[in-house]
Amino acid sequence: MPTILAVSSSPRRNGNSELLLQSFTRGLAEEGCESNTIRLNSLKIRPCQACDRCAATGECIVKDDMQGLYPQVASASALVIATPIYFGSVSAQLKLFIDRFQCWWNAKYVLNSPKVSQNEKRPGFFISVGGLKNEKHHANALDVVKVFFHIINFHYDNCLCFQDIDQKGAIKSHPDALEKAYEAGRRFARENLFNGTRE
Ligand SMILES: Cc1cc2nc3c(=O)[nH]c(=O)nc-3n(C[C@H](O)[C@H](O)[C@H](O)COP(=O)(O)O)c2cc1C
Repeated sequence: MPTILAVSSSPRRNGNSELLLQSFTRGLAEEGCESNTIRLNSLKIRPCQACDRCAATGECIVKDDMQGLYPQVASASALVIATPIYFGSVSAQLKLFIDRFQCWWNAKYVLNSPKVSQNEKRPGFFISVGGLKNEKHHANALDVVKVFFHIINFHYDNCLCFQDIDQKGAIKSHPDALEKAYEAGRRFARENLFNGTRE
């Protein structure tokens, strides 16, 4: 049974990006996939200190909640990441999380011992919501997440980006958007996670 790690990176509980993520994971469940959602804002995650100690070991020496997240990413069949757009990019919570994978960068490029094998082609999906009508903000955020997927050897599948949605819960006035996220979750599961092995 594939288990998908869903990463919610808004400080708003049940905010727009988190509601879209919930629709996406409902779609996954409909297709028989389990998912586990983590809320980065509830965790204690320090910024990468660039100490470079991970260049020798591939492990991060900062003892905080990231230590519990590395094994979850390492064992996830797939990743789906949701973020609000902040200042034309991903949320600070998400950027902190991403930067702490510098140890995986070192594991892959310096130690030649990636934490996830490239051959596995584990898929990654991205969801963003912004209050403005500005495509560039989403393109920028998507670039950050694509770099992340590439470094950790996940393979970017697709994204859903919604503009002009600002107030907390405003996404509920866009049932079409929530439905799109649900259908995207179903498609993602069907096309990526069973490899034709399901009866
Ligand atoms: C600090 C901050 C910065 C923001 N910067 C942008 C921005 O650059 N572009 C944009 O489209 N929306 C921006 N917004 C609006 C949020 O992206 C928008 O409210 C979104 O719906 C929040 O999603 P959430 O409910 O999942 O947190 C910003 C909001 C905050 C609080």
